[in-house]
Amino acid sequence: MMIRAETPADHDAVREITRAAFGREPEAKLVDLARAKLGDRAISLVAEQAGNGLTGHILLTPAKIESKAGTQEAAGMALGPVSVAPSVQRSGIGSALCRSALSCAQARGAPFVIVLGHPAYYPRFGFVPAAPLGIACPYEGVPEAAFMIARLDRAAMGGIAGTARFDPLFETV
Ligand SMILES: CC(C)(COP(=O)(O)OP(=O)(O)OC[C@H]1O[C@@H](n2cnc3c(N)ncnc32)[C@H](O)[C@@H]1OP(=O)(O)O)[C@@H](O)C(=O)NCCC(=O)NCCS
Repeated sequence: MMIRAETPADHDAVREITRAAFGREPEAKLVDLARAKLGDRAISLVAEQAGNGLTGHILLTPAKIESKAGTQEAAGMALGPVSVAPSVQRSGIGSALCRSALSCAQARGAPFVIVLGHPAYYPRFGFVPAAPLGIACPYEGVPEAAFMIARLDRAAMGGIAGTARFDPLFETV
């Protein structure tokens, strides 16, 4: 299995995997919209298995933390959606995608990555609940434990607190 950057030839397979993983359309649409709107500012990776074609996909989009009074604004990235083809889930593909995505974000100099996801899954990649760090989820009604952050540059994140903002396109689907 290898993780690589998505190419235009992958778009149809990525749409299918995302639709199948979530069992619905919005996340697949979100990936298409993100590509069109954000271009190279997004990170889009695929998992490919010899003989099995594409088996997974992960997206990272620019995000920020809007400062509270007396703190600085920080620009980083948001992880998701991440999708693994149902027939090959729970075989390590999602983990490999998450780890590669975090490495790419770090290589781009992102000091943090936020995620809205299952609290049992993401801590293994270094995510911790964001609220105790003073970083609020922008959406109402989200369980506190589901909004997490991986601090890739601890020093840069030292004085950062406020409300996180995903790209506005997340509110359109
Ligand atoms: C979530 C998902 C990306 C994980 O990928 P995967 O390749 O199946 O996961 P891995 O094999 O890397 O990891 C398996 C581990 O993750 C756990 N896990 C998998 N899906 C999980 C979920 N939805 N919630 C909590 N834990 C989950 C498994 O219990 C397993 O834990 P263990 O190692 O302690 O036994 C994949 O199952 C998927 O596409 N799900 C549907 C879409 C989705 O919910 N995406 C995430 C939200 S953006």
